[in-house]
This record gives sequence, structure tokens and C-alpha cells, in this order.
Amino acid sequence: MKPLSRRNALALGVTGTAAVAAGAAGLHWSRTAGLSTGGGAALKEPVTLASRQGRLAVRLEAAPARIGIGGRTASVAAFNGSLPGPTLRLDPGDRLNITLVNALADPTNLHVHGLHVSPAGNGDNPFISVAPGQSYEYEFVLPPDHPPGTFWYHPHHHGMAAEQVAAGLYGAIIVPDPAPIPVSRERVLIVSDISLDGNGQIEQVSLPERMMGREGRTVLVNGQVRPALQAAPGERERWRLINACPARYLNLQLEGPRYQLLALDGRLLSTVSDTGQLLLAPGNRADVLVTPGEGRWTLRTDRYDRGGMAGMMMGGGTSAGTPSGLLSFDARGDPVPEPGPVPEPGPVPRLPVLRDLREEPVTGRRRLDFSMGTGQGMGPAAMGFTINGKEFDAGRVDETVSVGSVEEWTLSNSSPMDHPVHLHVWPMQIIQEGARDLTGPQWQDVVNIPANSEVKVLVAFDSFPGRTVFHCHILDHEDLGMMGVVEAR
Ligand code: C2O
Ligand code: CU
Ligand code: CU
Repeated sequence: MKPLSRRNALALGVTGTAAVAAGAAGLHWSRTAGLSTGGGAALKEPVTLASRQGRLAVRLEAAPARIGIGGRTASVAAFNGSLPGPTLRLDPGDRLNITLVNALADPTNLHVHGLHVSPAGNGDNPFISVAPGQSYEYEFVLPPDHPPGTFWYHPHHHGMAAEQVAAGLYGAIIVPDPAPIPVSRERVLIVSDISLDGNGQIEQVSLPERMMGREGRTVLVNGQVRPALQAAPGERERWRLINACPARYLNLQLEGPRYQLLALDGRLLSTVSDTGQLLLAPGNRADVLVTPGEGRWTLRTDRYDRGGMAGMMMGGGTSAGTPSGLLSFDARGDPVPEPGPVPEPGPVPRLPVLRDLREEPVTGRRRLDFSMGTGQGMGPAAMGFTINGKEFDAGRVDETVSVGSVEEWTLSNSSPMDHPVHLHVWPMQIIQEGARDLTGPQWQDVVNIPANSEVKVLVAFDSFPGRTVFHCHILDHEDLGMMGVVEAR
């Protein structure tokens, strides 16, 4: 067989490129690692819907959908028939109107993860329930000083969140930087995982799997099995990575190109630093600058031991997360679209100075303990997923805070499994992880609390009165009760 050039191989589509990729990098899918076919197709990005003159109105229909995944047709759920859903691009001060149409068989709702917007009324209100066949008019107003960043949206109906996100309901939200860092291109990379049976149906999840937090066997990027990215050597790209997996931690091995970490959970870091490894818990995002030399690489996620329920006889054991290739990155040949030398990307401009709550008076301190209680008797009913000993109750307010106050929260985990803790509306500044104090301000909205340890954060409860939630972002744990209610007055 005559060897194919890279450009010719691209034109052949899925099968052709997969074959070429397999030859080049040993792309083989074992039964356990994922689907036996697929991989190697050019990366697709969801359509972007951008605001104009301060407004964006979008209709999002959550519905069953048939979608090609890894060379088969899969029965999933999707927003507007696409997996991921459309990317929403907004500026500070914008008004976002979403008509959420529920064409699913179960109730649903919508959450804009990481946006600093009101949780009241028809805003980012996680207590809303939209029945099958119904629709709901959401309105989100970004304050004029809303920080730029990478955020995302997904359903948040208690009891349904893991299943609906696992089925394919998620999409990106981008608030661009006021002074963008010069790059050759920007990519949105939404990572998810899914388990499909031979008929392309999503597999049922057992109770022990839910208690561990379900991990799909096949890891997807923008709904694709190991897509292929092309760049020219020397081109700097900005990747906006989103971990939309219900429970899988991404332990990214950043090898080959130069990787510089720019932002976590959408918030710019105080300094840009080179990085070779990055852990993204469910819900986390990272903005990374990627500058390749000449070559071809696979971006891999490696094992990460997030603990387990060993000794609890639930059949769960530990979950180490199967290693998996996420995408292939090919930087050989000429720049696209015009050939010629790649201009030097130049130094990254100075990042804005971040607010540091350690310089502000703390008006309250509280402790939240995340645990997997061993209640009375045996079996699942005895395994409460609790915060301060309580399971979620939408009718109860667990913590009352004052609008404008700054509080120190100690997030402790007395269970043998990690819990990624997420607070809506207000980001958290991590000040102490285990015995380690942090120097520069580090802001996140999902903070991993490793098994049997604690993390201290500061929160500024700015701007918005209302009721919202904090919870474990292993969405099965949230559905099983590991969620509390906070009210700001
Ligand atoms: Cu991304 Cu309360 O969730
Ligand atoms: Cu959220
Ligand atoms: Cu958890």
C-alpha cells in the first residue's frame, strides 16, 4: 500500500485517519479502555452562540438524540441535538435568556456553573424543576465586573444530575478576556465519559457504581473518541478544558509540547507557569497555553486514586480511573491555513492582580464535614452521603450568610474517598490544603478534598441575596444526598 500523506489521510474521514493514526501511535482500543472502533477524526467544536449588544437569547432543548460516537450510533441525550451543546459566549454586563425545553422523560433544570450571577427567581436557581414536556424561561444577568473565564452549563435536578450529564447534557460558557493573550487559535475541549452497550444504548448503572461515582468506559472530547488536532510547530494555542465527567478525575499528563497553566476554573492565576501534569476533578476547568515543537503526541489521562469503599462490602473497591488517550495532537508540516514561518507568539502579557481575601476581615468561620456515614444496619440505606451529618433537604437552610461578608470555611472529609466540593455563585479562595499554605491567591469553584483531610477556603459572599447550594461534584454523590443549602441575606 502506498503510504498516505497527512493531508490525504485527513480527507479520508474516520476510518482512513484511524488506520493511519493506529500505525503512527499504536491507537488500539481494548474492550475495557473504550470502543473498538473510532478515533482519529478531526476535532469538531460545538457551534458558538455569541451575545450581541449585551443580549443573548437561546433556546435549549434537552432531548433524546442519536449521535455517532466512535463509528457507531449512540442513543444519548443532548441539547439541540448536539453533544456537547452550543458554546455560549458572553461579555460582562450581558443578559442571557435561555428557554429550556424539556423533551426528556424526567424532570430537569439548568445551572450555569461558575458564573457569578443571582441564584434567585428565574436566575441560577437550582431548586427549579421543569417537568417533561414543559419549558422554562431563565434569565441570567452578568454583573459589569464579571471575571472572564471558562464556565459551563448542565442540568442540576436533584436525583437526576449524574444521569443527565452522563447522557450528554452539557455545554461551555466563555467570557472572553478583555485583553486576549495572542494565540494562533483557541479551542474548547469538553471531556466527558460514557458507557455504551453493543446497541449504542447507555448502560444501566448499579447502586454500588453510583456510590463510587460512575465512570464511563469511553472518554470523549467534544463527544468524539480520541479526536485529532492539527497545528504547526511553534504555533501557540489556548485550550479551554472542561471536565464534564460525572465522577472521573482527569489526571492529565502534559508531555511533548510546552504547556503553560493560565487559569483554573476560569479564574486567571496570579502567574503563568509551565506544567507537566494537571489534575481536574469533576466540574473543574483549566485554560492552558500549548506550544508544540515538531512532533505528534497523545494527550493522556492517567490513574488517579480517589479512594473507595474498601471494607464496606459494596463491591466498589477503589477507583483509580482507567488510563486513557484523550486526543492526538499533530504538529508537523506547515501552518494552517497559509504556509510560511510561524510568528513568535511573544511573551504572555502580565495578568491582572487578583483579589486576596486574606487581606480582608473575616466575619464568620464554619466547618463542613463531608462524610459517607455508616448509619444503622447494612446496605445502601445505611450509607448516607452527608454534609455535617445531614442529607440534602431542599426545604431546609443549612448555612445562613450575610451578603457582603467574608467567611472562612473549613471543608473536611472524614471519608475514605475524595470529594470535589463545589459552591454555587461565589468562588472560593483556597488558603490551606492539608499542611500546605498557599502563597499567591488561588481561586476555584470546585475544590478537591482528598480522603481523610481538610482544606480551608475564604469566600466573599458578594452581591446576591438568595438561596443556593454547595455539594460534592461527583454528581452521583450529590444525587445521593451530599448537598447543602446556603442562604445569603
Ligand atoms: Cu456543576 Cu452544582 O454544579
Ligand atoms: Cu455549579
Ligand atoms: Cu463525593
